[in-house]
Amino acid sequence: MGEVDQAFIQAAEHRPKLDTIEIEGIPLIDLSISDTRDIKLLVSEIADACKNWGFFQVINHGVPSELFTKINIAAKTFFDRPIEEKRKVKRDEVNSIGYHESEHTKNVRDWKEVFDFFIKDPTFLPASPEPEDKQMRTLRNQWPDNPPEFREVCQEYAGEMEKLGYKLLELIALSLGLPSNRFHSYFDDHTTMMRFNHYPPCPCPELALGVGRHKDAGALTIVAQDDVGGLQVKRKSDGAWVPVKPTPNALVINVGDTVQVWSNEAYESVEHRVVANSERERFSIPVFFFPSHYVMVKPLEELVNEQNPAKYKEYNFGKFFAARTRGDYKKLKVENIQI
Ligand code: SIN
Ligand code: FE2
Repeated sequence: MGEVDQAFIQAAEHRPKLDTIEIEGIPLIDLSISDTRDIKLLVSEIADACKNWGFFQVINHGVPSELFTKINIAAKTFFDRPIEEKRKVKRDEVNSIGYHESEHTKNVRDWKEVFDFFIKDPTFLPASPEPEDKQMRTLRNQWPDNPPEFREVCQEYAGEMEKLGYKLLELIALSLGLPSNRFHSYFDDHTTMMRFNHYPPCPCPELALGVGRHKDAGALTIVAQDDVGGLQVKRKSDGAWVPVKPTPNALVINVGDTVQVWSNEAYESVEHRVVANSERERFSIPVFFFPSHYVMVKPLEELVNEQNPAKYKEYNFGKFFAARTRGDYKKLKVENIQI
């Protein structure tokens, strides 16, 4: 067994069992429509996956495969740069977005380094989660000089993700019996964030995690992962950790807390984590679809009635998110706005 700093060590009950092999995987959904595959079938597959798993993979999503090659090269080249260079774009009090060499999930350090940026730049958020503080914070992306094409490739990929995000939001709306554009207005000034994760080989994958267990706060997340594997999803039926099998050209989708609230829990945000690997480094690229900061999130009126009353109080997405960026996890949890 190797050694890692105490900060990375998970409590005994959260350590991964590295020898468990789960056969059942999350659903794989083909997004293409043809004579034999109509939209109704696709929408029913989305509904089942969201209900039963909160997670699924998609193929035939329309993102060109050359773009995955380009974005992966850009990510690897950036993380390969000397630490002094990466620190030039580091996240700090002023620039709360950029490179971070240390991130914690539930107070335990994750075995990874990260670079993130907002798809719409600049992005405006309330300065503070406190209601009396009306000040706005302007968040500007920071871009490294190397590799020189980094920013351009990121923007090209982000554009494709934005298109796919809207398509998935439409399918999710249809799957809840809503008009396809039901969620669109919530994303007029969306605060969507794209992230590169680099998980270096870890000497103690039985003690540390790439990312500790958590749920995503936004509406939905689209993840591109390489062929190493490590992402695991908590199965709703029995709480077992199920690996998300790396599948060529597939993207991993999950619904977050915001969809849980909008759907009044018809769909739940599911816990997931990333297991570290002692031999191979891993790269992943999640895109977190966040609504506009001023959106008030609450169960949709069409989905609430006397038999199924609203399970959540209304909350302001920006304040919720600002609490998250300040590490105020207690305020972040949707459990705290349950009725
Ligand atoms: C995450 O859920 O934060 C990371 C997903 C991944 O690396 O696969
Ligand atoms: Fe996540």
